[in-house]
Amino acid sequence: MKISEMFRVKDYGVIVTGGASGIGLAYGEVLAENGARVTLMDLDRTRLNREVKRLKGLKLDVRGMVVDVTDRPAVHRAFDKTVKDYGRLDVVFANAGIDSGPGFRQMGPAGRNPEGAIENYADARWDKVIDTNLNSVFTTVKAAARHMKPRHSGRIVITTSLAAERIEGAIGAAYMAAKAGAAHFMRNAALELAKYNILVNAIAPGPFITNIGGGHAFDPNVQKFFAGLVPLGRMASTEEIKGLALFLASPASSYITGAQIVIDGGSGLGPAD
Ligand SMILES: NC(=O)c1ccc[n+]([C@@H]2O[C@H](COP(=O)([O-])OP(=O)(O)OC[C@H]3O[C@@H](n4cnc5c(N)ncnc54)[C@H](O)[C@@H]3O)[C@@H](O)[C@H]2O)c1
Repeated sequence: MKISEMFRVKDYGVIVTGGASGIGLAYGEVLAENGARVTLMDLDRTRLNREVKRLKGLKLDVRGMVVDVTDRPAVHRAFDKTVKDYGRLDVVFANAGIDSGPGFRQMGPAGRNPEGAIENYADARWDKVIDTNLNSVFTTVKAAARHMKPRHSGRIVITTSLAAERIEGAIGAAYMAAKAGAAHFMRNAALELAKYNILVNAIAPGPFITNIGGGHAFDPNVQKFFAGLVPLGRMASTEEIKGLALFLASPASSYITGAQIVIDGGSGLGPAD
């Protein structure tokens, strides 16, 4: 197969949740840049409108829908409308997510952070993180499967995290649980849906510079902390996730399902020095 055919996603119908910012926006951009029709779903109307306007200005086939992924009926309605408009649904990125507040360990200096200790971790925070980062993945995959099964074809890509594989104590506990749950649910869905030619995989990023947690990744101290954990010595730009997203959405990855692909600058290997 020629390389141009391998990565061909022209005219694909694509949905990205959490598509107004960061990693989800990069997914949407790379698919649209390669000719797909992309619906970005997000809670943040202002950012969504701004990014859709910018991408439309580049003549990309992108539109936005304000959808809260924790609102199950709203997610199903938004999927139904998108499939009706496009007439097809080829790729879904279940990507929306939030941070989880502090973990039990300090972010900068060594030592514990009492705010992130289990006995102090707010129940409401736990519930919100599980709802947004795990329950929403179930809802999104359910809506995707409903539309993909009759066509006997589709790709589903879930954004998990390196946190699905190993604990980072400076990040709140609910995040670890949600991402590990999403990773295992991905494997379950991949096994179940293989029969219907629906491939389900996960992208597990290490530290990327995005707006998560109110944009603290733009803080040089936070960048220094995470850079220290990465053998490549830096946090990643969202541009660097585009290749993997296109790969998992395109014919190039036609024999990959149930895989969680880590993109972390080597962080999962442990410290280099
Ligand atoms: N940035 C990182 O270092 C990193 C690392 C590992 C995993 N991730 C994961 O990547 C995904 C994307 O995060 P990001 O870093 O790009 O953050 P981001 O904040 O830049 O983007 C997340 C988007 O999701 C949207 N969102 C949040 N809650 C929503 C809801 N209930 N309904 C609809 N949209 C909602 C936000 O409005 C935002 O536009 C998340 O699942 C996150 O956990 C990020």
